[in-house]
Amino acid sequence: MVRSKKLTHSEYKKRLIKTWDEIAPRYHRRWAKNNIGPFRSSSELVKLADIQAGYVVLDLACGTGAITKRIATKVGSSGKVVGVDSSISAIKIAKKENNNKTNLDFVLSDAEFIKFNKKFDVVTCQYALFFFPNANKVLRNIKQYLKKNGTLALTLHGNKDTVPYFSSILDVMTKFVPDYIPQGTPNLDRFGTRSQLKKTVSASGFTNIRIREYVFTYRPGMFSDYWQNYLKYLAKPLKEKIKTLSALQKKKMKNQIKQNTLPYTKKSGQIVFPWKILILTAKKP
Ligand SMILES: C[S@@+](CC[C@H](N)C(=O)[O-])C[C@H]1O[C@@H](n2cnc3c(N)ncnc32)[C@H](O)[C@@H]1O
Repeated sequence: MVRSKKLTHSEYKKRLIKTWDEIAPRYHRRWAKNNIGPFRSSSELVKLADIQAGYVVLDLACGTGAITKRIATKVGSSGKVVGVDSSISAIKIAKKENNNKTNLDFVLSDAEFIKFNKKFDVVTCQYALFFFPNANKVLRNIKQYLKKNGTLALTLHGNKDTVPYFSSILDVMTKFVPDYIPQGTPNLDRFGTRSQLKKTVSASGFTNIRIREYVFTYRPGMFSDYWQNYLKYLAKPLKEKIKTLSALQKKKMKNQIKQNTLPYTKKSGQIVFPWKILILTAKKP
């Protein structure tokens, strides 16, 4: 297999937007609108962000609006929520699901280049910081648009050792398909521990940093369900890469992935994955 050249930040972002434009409807149906596995974090994040009636809140990388919707209920008719995302397809779903709410706006924008003429009481960002190639720039933007003593609230996945749902497949896939994650993609694991996350947020000038860890469980079914669903929800370019493998390679790859799931497989054959998540809250001084 020929390795493609290293992506620049803007090439990586273009690909990411294309991916989210394709998968947002499937992501919404399978994950965001359901309160399952890691998405049990949504209610915790809204609670820990201490959102009050009348607050003005920014939900950055809001996706299909799973959290934004909850925040709108909290701030009530005297408050306001703005959801920002760089995928038009995610924004369209978010708007459609919330077209009866007047205290909520959805805006298409890159988190690195947000511009507002107001400041926010709270900024939330769930499962997205690791996607930003320049996360510090985004954190500095957030700080700029937070009121003094305003709250930042972030949710992140744990690292590969604590989220076997991802690593059981990815550790093997990246061996069989070396270009599966193109060079130039930021390390999506890099905020998956308390110390790494704290270091980055603190370097951006936030104070009162507090990180809570949770371990949720996710039951993807039998191994065949886990594997089939992974393939079904995958973006087209990745499906194409898997197609380049021979039948024998695919068989070997699937077997190795199955081996990785065995520590989490019950006698019944059902897989029960632990899924660590971190929720950080911090203040703008
Ligand atoms: C895993 S989803 C999370 C969505 C939502 N926060 C939730 O909890 O369901 C990640 C989102 O980040 C968005 N995203 C990635 N990079 C972005 C950027 N630079 N600016 C704005 N949104 C971005 C994607 O379009 C996608 O909707």
